Amino acid sequence: MSTLSDDELYQGYFEKVYQHTNVMSYSPEEAAQYAKQGVCLTYGELLYPSVKKLLGKMQLTKDDVFLDLGSGAGKCAFQVFMQSDVGKVLGIEASALLHQQALQVSLTLRKEFPWFWEDNRSCDFVEGNFLHSSWNQATVVYTCSTCFTQELLFAIADKINHTPSVQKVFSLRPLPGLRIPLESVFQVECSWDSALCFFYLR
Ligand SMILES: C[S@@+](CC[C@H](N)C(=O)[O-])C[C@H]1O[C@@H](n2cnc3c(N)ncnc32)[C@H](O)[C@@H]1O
Repeated sequence: MSTLSDDELYQGYFEKVYQHTNVMSYSPEEAAQYAKQGVCLTYGELLYPSVKKLLGKMQLTKDDVFLDLGSGAGKCAFQVFMQSDVGKVLGIEASALLHQQALQVSLTLRKEFPWFWEDNRSCDFVEGNFLHSSWNQATVVYTCSTCFTQELLFAIADKINHTPSVQKVFSLRPLPGLRIPLESVFQVECSWDSALCFFYLR
């Protein structure tokens, strides 16, 4: 009898807890309102094997704070939390519906796998515009920025430039004006297609 690998178990589990999450749709008025606030609502996710690829490059320790800018329903954030030694994960998401989904999954995971929260570890989600949230203490920043406008990319770079705790940045679009050297560019797979990931290292 063949046994399942850890990856098959994790992937199967994530599929199960996310099976009831819905695809988002917004009215043109809602979308226009979000756009005015610098929020690009287009949704998609980094696939499981690519999050693992990121984890290999991030080398997270208990002293790290991982920040997901635009965390959606939280899938990437939870995988980082459950498959690394990171001390703290923070996801910031503008869409109230997606944020609610992340909170729902968080309740399930906390109930089924409470030991991931031991030793003062945390995995939190904040609803709102990440440009208006505090990034203090973040050491590693990830953003699935494929659909972000140039203006938003500039604003992210500027905010990182003013957050000295940030050591590593992973973005699916180059961040213009970022004052952290580009370390490498590698390919990742997303729910919509392949993309490049830009890795900056201080
Ligand atoms: C492509 S999804 C990424 C989901 C997840 N991080 C992943 O990689 O699998 C990008 C998310 O960023 C959110 N977003 C875009 N602009 C934002 C902003 N200014 N503040 C907060 N969230 C934002 C969108 O609502 C969307 O859910």
